[in-house]
Amino acid sequence: MTVKFLQRSIWQRIFGISATDKPQDENGWRYESGKLIISLEQIRELTRPGTAVRFEDKTLPERILVVFGEDEQYRAFQNRCTHIGHRRLDYVPGTQTVQCCSVNKSTFTADGKKIHGPAPLPVRPYPVEVTGKELHIRIS
Ligand code: FES
Repeated sequence: MTVKFLQRSIWQRIFGISATDKPQDENGWRYESGKLIISLEQIRELTRPGTAVRFEDKTLPERILVVFGEDEQYRAFQNRCTHIGHRRLDYVPGTQTVQCCSVNKSTFTADGKKIHGPAPLPVRPYPVEVTGKELHIRIS
């Protein structure tokens, strides 16, 4: 698989500034009974193929990256590179990969396998269940 790199400045890479935004409507998701539950009526950005949103705050046990690929499949990952800096990941549009926002750009397939960079382990993918107008992602 060919690795494509997101175009980011060296300073964005050094400081680990993610290209992926948090949801525009912070009230459009909740963490309940071990699941991240996302309303697609409120988090409209996740209805456009080729987008991703990052979910993180003190109510979640870990940071989660949710991707809606060009293939119209939802995927979710623990948003934590396995390399020593444990930086956030970004979706790489036009591919089915996610990539660390750091200088070293470790890159992972849709099932979490590393295909580029120094990360020693895969990243953890989570199954996404589409239930009506909601996404359910079991984290714990
Ligand atoms: S923290 Fe991801 S490659 Fe270093």
